[in-house]
Amino acid sequence: MIIVIDGLSGSGKSSTAKAVAEKLGIQYLDSGALYRVATYIWLEADKDTEKFLEILPLKDIQFEYVDKDFIVHVDGVNVSNKIRKQKVSEHVSIVAALPEVRIFINKLMRKAVKDSNYIADGRDLGSAVFPDADLKFFMEASLEVRAERRFKELRESDDSVTFGQVMENLLDRDSRDKSRKMDPLVKPEDAYIIDTSEKTFDEQVIEICNIISEKVLINKNLEL
Ligand code: DC
Repeated sequence: MIIVIDGLSGSGKSSTAKAVAEKLGIQYLDSGALYRVATYIWLEADKDTEKFLEILPLKDIQFEYVDKDFIVHVDGVNVSNKIRKQKVSEHVSIVAALPEVRIFINKLMRKAVKDSNYIADGRDLGSAVFPDADLKFFMEASLEVRAERRFKELRESDDSVTFGQVMENLLDRDSRDKSRKMDPLVKPEDAYIIDTSEKTFDEQVIEICNIISEKVLINKNLEL
């Protein structure tokens, strides 16, 4: 079973998807983290896109969700912290727009979710990667709310980051995510829209869990 949550940066997808995964006892897949890994590899290749596209398929990328953390290894090295750095955030939309990268990551994700129950979050999961997902959600929040959330999160690991930088980065990523040629961010027609601007975190988690238990788990006889 695959449940997807799409939405703009900072709309609360990842933290919500993780909490839902915990409550339902299912796996969590962070597709943004995989685009961040690709960006990390691109930066390691000195931003040389040709060289990067040659080495990307040779990389051994392993990921798992353990103790509320999405852990990623590249060739045996844990890069989970490195992929959250501002340098990666600043370049990720450029790398994510490369069709070769999207094809590579889509394959990786489709293979991973085959044998288990997953909730995944991203930008194009319901529209392009898993058009037949069991259930689709699309999360929204105002720009101010999203910037405030992302700022708080980033300040925990990097106290040099400013609110202005975060806002600028969000605007930039929003526009790149919506306008890229391959698989841009779109609201799937069959997705449940969850606007989180005025909701507490617990409220949005409960709303999503309730919809899942009505629509999917009961049909599949899975237990909450
Ligand atoms: O969710 P995040 O901020 O960690 O995602 C990082 C970037 O990855 C984001 O700017 C856009 C890209 N991305 C994408 O293009 N498609 C996805 N399914 C998920 C993320």
